Amino acid sequence: RTPEPCIVVIFGASGDLTKRKLLPALYHLDQAGLLPEDFAVVGVARRDLSATFGPDMQDGIMKGGGVDANEAKLKPFLDRVQYFATNFDDDEGFEKLKTYLAGLDEKFKTKGNRLFYLAVAPEFFADIIQRLGKRGMAKPAEGESHWVRVIIEKPFGTDLESARKLNDDVNAVLSEDQIFRIDHYLGKETVQNILVFRFGNGIFEPIWNRNYIDHVEITAAESIGIEGRGPFYEKAGLVRDVLQNHVMEVLSFVAMEPPDSFQANAVRTEKLKVWRSIEGIPVENTVRGQYGPGKVDGQDAIGYRQEERVNPESHTETFGAIKLEIENWRWAGVPFYLRAGKRLGKRVTEVSIVFKQPPTHLFKSNSSDDKIEQNVITMRIQPDEGISLRFGAKVPGPTTNVAQVDMHFSYAEAFGKSSANGYERLLLDAMLGDGTLFAHRDGVEATWALFTPILEAWAKDGNVDFPNYAAGSWGPEASDKLIEADGRSWRKL
Ligand code: BG6
Repeated sequence: RTPEPCIVVIFGASGDLTKRKLLPALYHLDQAGLLPEDFAVVGVARRDLSATFGPDMQDGIMKGGGVDANEAKLKPFLDRVQYFATNFDDDEGFEKLKTYLAGLDEKFKTKGNRLFYLAVAPEFFADIIQRLGKRGMAKPAEGESHWVRVIIEKPFGTDLESARKLNDDVNAVLSEDQIFRIDHYLGKETVQNILVFRFGNGIFEPIWNRNYIDHVEITAAESIGIEGRGPFYEKAGLVRDVLQNHVMEVLSFVAMEPPDSFQANAVRTEKLKVWRSIEGIPVENTVRGQYGPGKVDGQDAIGYRQEERVNPESHTETFGAIKLEIENWRWAGVPFYLRAGKRLGKRVTEVSIVFKQPPTHLFKSNSSDDKIEQNVITMRIQPDEGISLRFGAKVPGPTTNVAQVDMHFSYAEAFGKSSANGYERLLLDAMLGDGTLFAHRDGVEATWALFTPILEAWAKDGNVDFPNYAAGSWGPEASDKLIEADGRSWRKL
């Protein structure tokens, strides 16, 4: 299905996201024949970049990787990419934008349909939406039949109160089905595949519960630091940047009940039930960390406090680990251990489902401590996307010893390398009006309700002892202790 003719209007056109992700994704969709023929993109930013915008986007697409993009091929696409400069608080500028877009409707036959993408700093979200509302750009007028949708980038609020306020402000102008709160993790094939793995197969779901599963681990480790985003990161920190959104989305896919259809409301309802079944996360079950100097990939790396535009005594966390339980019939008693951080040993995001041991031990293990290991299903979200099952096998020879082996499915081997960056699917879904892979008002508030008390407790307790892990390590010692206190350990990655 291709979407109806439309204009994608990107606020924040001069930003990194537009160049590195959004334009390449739109180009990928175009090459796959998934964009409507009558289509245009308008980049909106405060500075006048009309002369450089096209070449800059071309550069972004060519560097976006993996696509067959040369100048000749790009030309028909870039001919439909326009630029418009206005301040985001300039009423007159919005009026001009409205007229400008109406002109493009004539030229590109886009029928008044608009997908606004707010790739701007969060303080502008509500303002821009209010201005769109004021100028009659947020909804079709009586008798008009076009559609208007708005994608809002993260972070959606910085705590429960601000998320509620933002929801109120946005909902005052737009109806919920016009709002697409994006979490790019939901655009990742491997995240979507969690649902296919669980609900598109008959053999996994029967054992996907407290009777067979000992615990679940989710790791979102990055080897990069904050990449020059000091001022943003100082205010955000790891929990707001990654745990409250990306990791909780992944958790909901791992833990939710089968929805009655793969439709927005059905999926959102099940996700919400998971988050609401978490009865708070005691601060004792949390660990925060901040990297100090160290070595990453053999190279010296500076500590967080030495990063540009970061307070040399900063208390901002760059690592977080938590243990939580989902108090429902499927999961009661099964701990979920989540950890995420910057400047860790390597970039790896994965989910491991660790199964209970067999009830009796018939065989000897060939591990040094003669421990029979547990079966593990690992869903590798990135890099080396795939799924593996770890189980015991007889070591060839005259004795019956058991060694651990892996059965492995690799995305690249099975399907070839993909050039998609995750935004293709989400942009396409928003153009089609399908909110299944977007966050919903209630969901955002439910996850903030879990993390706000932790952030408040951390803020109150200034006793941080940062930095407490070396760049290139696997986080602070307290993170190992959190899981070891339960007789378990993080999987070696
Ligand atoms: C972003 C965060 O949302 O996600 C970044 O702001 C983080 O700090 C990034 O690096 C991780 O995304 P990915 O797709 O590289 O895992």
